[in-house]
Amino acid sequence: MEKDVYILGIETSCDETSIAIVKNGVEDVYTCIRTQMETHALYGGVVPEIASRMHTESITLVLEDVMSNSKVDWDMIDAIAVTYAPGLMGCLLVGLEFAKTLALIHKKPLIAVNHIAGHIYANNLNKQIIFPSLGLVVSGGHTELVLMNGDYDFEVVGSTLDDAIGECYDKVARILGLSYPGGPNVERYALEGKHTYDLPIPMNDESLNFSYSGLKSYLINLVHNEKQRGKDIDKYDLARSFQDVAIEQLVRKTRLAIQKYGIKNVIVAGGVSANKYLRSELEVMCKDENVELSIPPFKYCTDNATMIAAAAYPLYKEKKFASFDLNAKSQERYFDKKD
Ligand code: KG4
Ligand code: ZN
Repeated sequence: MEKDVYILGIETSCDETSIAIVKNGVEDVYTCIRTQMETHALYGGVVPEIASRMHTESITLVLEDVMSNSKVDWDMIDAIAVTYAPGLMGCLLVGLEFAKTLALIHKKPLIAVNHIAGHIYANNLNKQIIFPSLGLVVSGGHTELVLMNGDYDFEVVGSTLDDAIGECYDKVARILGLSYPGGPNVERYALEGKHTYDLPIPMNDESLNFSYSGLKSYLINLVHNEKQRGKDIDKYDLARSFQDVAIEQLVRKTRLAIQKYGIKNVIVAGGVSANKYLRSELEVMCKDENVELSIPPFKYCTDNATMIAAAAYPLYKEKKFASFDLNAKSQERYFDKKD
């Protein structure tokens, strides 16, 4: 029998300081997440300088929690995995330097993980990804359909031509005057509203691409014009109308890709996969198409280190270790081949 592999993952790319231990790439042994959300909400969004400073303050406390409550000791840990890209530079550096120090002190290999690959591998914490799978990646910076033929074998078959869906949710939250974090707040308002606004349907074509900037601009103009006419906007109804149109595009394009590529398995990744309406619409569509759908449990959809440790496991098996001159990168595409 193969020996169990324990990977300690570290995630600090944005506003969550998280460390987790994952067994064999699939089992969450222990996860600690410290969020800075309340602090950034005061400013209406993540303030990079404050975020990196807060990571520095939290990271040792988070590690202490993991090492004292996980029942895993350093001897059992096989590797240290860390998010090195993409994200806020100062934030990534806190996690990366911390990971390097731990790897050096405890003599463990270091594994570099791309944050979006982490979101994708969060699916393994649910049930193991079956290859080939079609991935729908929906985050603050990504909206794409990707064929996954094996571990780290990605082929993008559709993507946004402009804004990402998460970015659009955040922008709409601002337009409606809703506080940070935008996405979950728009969802909350949408839940109580009705679809009363007639919004343009973006990318109403047969391609696998997406677009969100037209929808965003339409909403900005709509709110602006109504204000000028002294009319009130119904925030609940507008949030609902927006959400219906925004999510419909994701579901329709995913269905088109399923049909085009004869897909049997769909996985969903990224922060927007926490959206309940998206989850339920995908469920209905996949059932209709007779396709298996995997969405990570709610707690693994937003940023966490569990997904980073899970994503490191296939790299560990391939002995793809990073050297100590590894640097953080604010931008890096998860689907580019690394070697
Ligand atoms: O994947 P993620 O952590 O971002 C990147 O790594 O880029 O996801 C963050 C994005 C934000 O734009 C946030 O507003 C959105 O995911 N988001 C949501 C929800 N929860 C988070 N959007 C819609 N509905 C949600 N429930
Ligand atoms: Zn993320």
